[in-house]
Amino acid sequence: MTADKARKKAIRARVAATGDSYTRARRKIAGSPGRDFQPRRVAVFGAGYIGLVTGACFAELGHQVILRDVQPEKIRMLQAGEVPIFEPGLGDLLAANKDRLSFTVDAADAVRDAEVVYVCVDTPPTASGDADLSRVWAVIDSLKGVSTDRLAALVMKSTVPVGTGERVRAALDDAGLAHVGYAANPEFTSEGRAVRTFLRPDRVVIGAADEESAGLVTALHGGVDGPVEVMRIADAEMVKLASNALLATKISFINEIATVCEATGADVEAVAKAIGMDSRLGPHFLRAGLGYGGSCFPKDSRALRVMASNTGHPFQLLSAVIEVNELQPRRAIQRLKNELGTLKRRRIALLGMTFKAGTDDMREAPSTVVASRLLAEGADIHCWDPLARPGEAEPWTSATRHASPVQAMTGADAAMVITEWPQLRQVDWTAARHAMRNPLIFDGRNLLDPKKMRATGFTYIGVGRP
Ligand code: UGA
Repeated sequence: MTADKARKKAIRARVAATGDSYTRARRKIAGSPGRDFQPRRVAVFGAGYIGLVTGACFAELGHQVILRDVQPEKIRMLQAGEVPIFEPGLGDLLAANKDRLSFTVDAADAVRDAEVVYVCVDTPPTASGDADLSRVWAVIDSLKGVSTDRLAALVMKSTVPVGTGERVRAALDDAGLAHVGYAANPEFTSEGRAVRTFLRPDRVVIGAADEESAGLVTALHGGVDGPVEVMRIADAEMVKLASNALLATKISFINEIATVCEATGADVEAVAKAIGMDSRLGPHFLRAGLGYGGSCFPKDSRALRVMASNTGHPFQLLSAVIEVNELQPRRAIQRLKNELGTLKRRRIALLGMTFKAGTDDMREAPSTVVASRLLAEGADIHCWDPLARPGEAEPWTSATRHASPVQAMTGADAAMVITEWPQLRQVDWTAARHAMRNPLIFDGRNLLDPKKMRATGFTYIGVGRP
């Protein structure tokens, strides 16, 4: 491919990933004349959702990136030009920037020439609910014994408890790496819009103890379209946890309002719309439904609660948010049971399995609680999802997967909308009603028009709708 062709391809990839206009993308793209920019050598540890997006986007900004992961299969796929996860725009971005990207399982290989090491490893909860930082310490271990002369900073993108920065600083000093700066740069990536949120974020948060590290991380983001907020490390660590907790609070709040709406005859959809028109409140995260899932909100809200508990503070508000969320899918099953009398040997169609639309991610998906409860009640589960990868575990091994929503609904006693997949709006609902044994629909995401569904002959139940 000629350089010009490659550049045009890269511009088109950026347009697709960010929604930028062609002209704007051309101006922003790495290598554009006149851009005040210093390319850096960045090693990204962890090639999961966050690491891959971070690596691809830094390469897109013009940096030389090496991605390191412990899973050889993942690295082999990436080296072969395959993308191990589904994330819109990511494949195009990796392909367009392949000259600036390399992949390895060897930590020493990744660190050797790096000027910046980005930590994008997972920090799952331990048995006590505290964050397991072992993978973070492993990254620091891998810096020992290799030449780190060029290494200017270690940057934490993983979500960690407040105070981790201090511990990392001490670990770096103990390892003879006092010359390596440290910064926190928490991610606010939303799955399904990850590339866009990286390149056009609401804000870039940088926590640093020294000006050099803050300046370096700020400069790395040259070309990113969003304001940069520099603060103390502990503040940056807290921003991440508090942001997710507040978003989770909005969701649980509207779900509580929905429950009160059900009991009083109000419609949460009309209520949420008008609440959201108040600029002080904003329209986002006011969609009532089966509750939040995913790899972040459930984990981060519990992590913040545990962190507060460790200081002796009972974070009661957050406890309530978590409890409301845990109840939401269970309430749905109870409502279905009230309609059908019993769920034993009832055939139930689940429409959608992933924790939200636009992703293949099943982590902490409400669908798993719904399906497990149905199974426990003796129901027969038939499901549909365009992307979900549920793995070989219950409840999914007991469920039958179908290629289309109507197939999943054929012969069903009830159908439940679990994920807000836009495909569900295109379903031939008249055909679905005829295919079902009993035309009952529980719309767990308030995706469908109740009037139309009733006119089609369905018994329609939504969340917080009369
Ligand atoms: C979330 C945050 O939005 C990101 O800013 C953050 O960086 C990320 O977690 C993280 O910590 O890594 P994500 O988990 O990808 O991103 O998904 P969201 O789009 O925020 O949705 C989370 C869950 O809330 C989904 O299950 C969704 O269905 C649910 N939700 C969202 C609602 O039930 N109602 C709403 O109004 C909005």
